Amino acid sequence: MSGQQEILKVAMPKGRIYKQASKLFREAGLPIPVDFDDSRKLIIEVPDAKMEFIMAKPVDVPTYVEYGVADIGIVGKDVLMEENKDVYELLDLGIAKCRMSVIGMPDWKPVINPRVATKYPNVASQYFRELGQQVEVIKLNGSIELAPLIGLADRIVDMVETGQTLKENGLVEMESIFGITSRLIANRVSYRMKNEPIQKLCDLLQQTLAARV
Ligand code: PRP
Repeated sequence: MSGQQEILKVAMPKGRIYKQASKLFREAGLPIPVDFDDSRKLIIEVPDAKMEFIMAKPVDVPTYVEYGVADIGIVGKDVLMEENKDVYELLDLGIAKCRMSVIGMPDWKPVINPRVATKYPNVASQYFRELGQQVEVIKLNGSIELAPLIGLADRIVDMVETGQTLKENGLVEMESIFGITSRLIANRVSYRMKNEPIQKLCDLLQQTLAARV
């Protein structure tokens, strides 16, 4: 196999997950330069690690991997649950820990025709469907916590990490739906064609994570 074929294309989520992922990779002994942690470059070649990073918006990572333009990717469980793409989930990286929760005002009371605002319409719809509750789901793209404050929705489904956003906006977590961490995912064909480097990386990361505990 030529050197070129062994290069792994990795869809990396830009922002906070990237910093934790690159740290984990470095801890695993992969020579990922620190300079890229704050870089605006979208394609980052890391020949010493036999990798190329495709710096994606987190929500797009499963799409790049499903279409095979990236062999593997790192993505939050929240995005995986919402996007439901045809990819292999290989490893729980244990980084970027947070949770998906139902949030509302402290004086929340059931209403007729409830509206729920969220960045995760599929996750929210499924959750309320399983509870047998009929709600209108409103898709927003950010600052979800605004919705109950200004009367757009009576509850929201969103990620809680430190709880700071809730605290500063006087909101309360009503129920935690599931825990979130970042996962290593792989394209189905790449997993067969580049099995050796992918499996090697997976094993290396697994050992590194075990040593962290
Ligand atoms: C996320 C999430 C919450 C916040 C939770 O928003 O949607 O608003 O982080 O974090 P905390 O519990 O530590 O406060 P993000 O920062 O991604 O911005 P967004 O408003 O654009 O979604």
